[in-house]
Amino acid sequence: MSELLDLIKTRKSVRTFDGNQISEEDRCSIAKYMEEVSNPFDIPVKFVLLDAEENGLSSPVLTGEKLYIAGKVEKKPHADIAFGYTFEKVLLHAWSLGVGSVMIGGTMKRELFEAAAGVADGEIMPCISPLGYPAKKRSVKDTMMRKGIGADSRFDNSKLFFANEWGNPLEISDDLADVFEMVKWAPSAVNKQPWRIICKDGVYHLFEKKDKGYDKPNTGDLQKIDVGIALSHLVLGFENIGKTVELEFLNPEIEIPSDAEYIVSVHIN
Ligand SMILES: Cc1cc2nc3c(=O)[nH]c(=O)nc-3n(C[C@H](O)[C@H](O)[C@H](O)COP(=O)(O)O)c2cc1C
Repeated sequence: MSELLDLIKTRKSVRTFDGNQISEEDRCSIAKYMEEVSNPFDIPVKFVLLDAEENGLSSPVLTGEKLYIAGKVEKKPHADIAFGYTFEKVLLHAWSLGVGSVMIGGTMKRELFEAAAGVADGEIMPCISPLGYPAKKRSVKDTMMRKGIGADSRFDNSKLFFANEWGNPLEISDDLADVFEMVKWAPSAVNKQPWRIICKDGVYHLFEKKDKGYDKPNTGDLQKIDVGIALSHLVLGFENIGKTVELEFLNPEIEIPSDAEYIVSVHIN
């Protein structure tokens, strides 16, 4: 298994932390990474580290967290996709250091986090995450929550990846198996896995398969953030096997269900 696939598959949402601050070295590494990280949409996503106690921040689903990271982005087309893409890269970097996280878009007192993060006019702060070392054992509420959501499983490839048309399962060649495995294991709000990919004439077209209640005027569309996360795994996966990736917004001329939306197309060289 490649190091990247291992990183992606061992990452699980961490909601139970060991109660310690992260080391200065890990904090510096994350701080440096979040300043330098970019996305293919050229939409800057800004991150701030927030001390939990100093700012009076907590979440009912978490225990033992000492530090948070909040992400902010200007509200404009494709901002949610860029946000998910960029935030996921930061959280994967954190996990490569052993620092756990869980994206949180709902279970928090949003006003407190927005004030602490200094969200400006015209900006949104769709998600935050705690950062810390996982406790040895998950709390009961963490375990119950994971069970309720089915957090340890994902849809079958045949439900997510299509050839030429919506619903027609893609035959994934051995050399691309890891790439699609990485996409499949992307995290998503309530584990809804709203991304769909249709491969047509060698181009990968990404779509959002929408569930109700995830698109909010003040905080963006959480499921587009999910698609941004899946896109980051797709791009990282292709780059990991030496491919060059280019994104393009086009009209793929593919019929899709009424609850789906075209997002972006991925060219591979
Ligand atoms: C955009 C986004 C928003 C999320 N919001 C919350 C949240 O508000 N509260 C929470 O406990 N988990 C939240 N999660 C975590 C998901 O429930 C979790 O990623 C999913 O169940 C899969 O589990 P895993 O991350 O362990 O693979 C969110 C995840 C994403 C990607």
